Amino acid sequence: MKSTRAIVLAATIATCAWGATAAEQAAIERGNAHYLLFCANCHGVDADGQGPLASVLKITPTDLRNLRAGGGDELVAERVLKAVDQRHEVPSPEGPRMPLFSDNLEVKTIIEIGEYLKTVQR
Ligand code: HEC
Repeated sequence: MKSTRAIVLAATIATCAWGATAAEQAAIERGNAHYLLFCANCHGVDADGQGPLASVLKITPTDLRNLRAGGGDELVAERVLKAVDQRHEVPSPEGPRMPLFSDNLEVKTIIEIGEYLKTVQR
């Protein structure tokens, strides 16, 4: 337990050294926790699109490490908001493919998930 805490602390300090403030770091950690609860089943714990449910879905979950594609952090945040809100336009005869979260998740929560996902972009 003690060593786990030491690793978490070291990782936190290392990330802070890269420029995130303590408040930003806390938001990223909450975003990571929300992500693991609500998104990882499909998109994978590493956001690679390989979650345990991926094999039984008709449509492959997106690899969320490539959300930046040509844009910046704003594009990551925008795509997360749109996807979770069901407002993104992926052409599909069957309609929306992702579960509707917008009625259940606070915008703050979605934004924090976006903050976390910004940290895993390649
Ligand atoms: C039941 C499985 C499932 C869950 C749970 C899920 N997703 Fe998805 N997601 C998908 C699938 C399938 C796609 C690809 C098809 C589509 O875009 O609708 C996708 C696509 C996306 C995209 C790409 C949209 C784009 O711009 O191309 C984002 C971003 C995303 N999901 C974020 C999330 C976040 C954040 C969560 C958690 C709050 C989440 N997803 C939970 C299945 C899921």
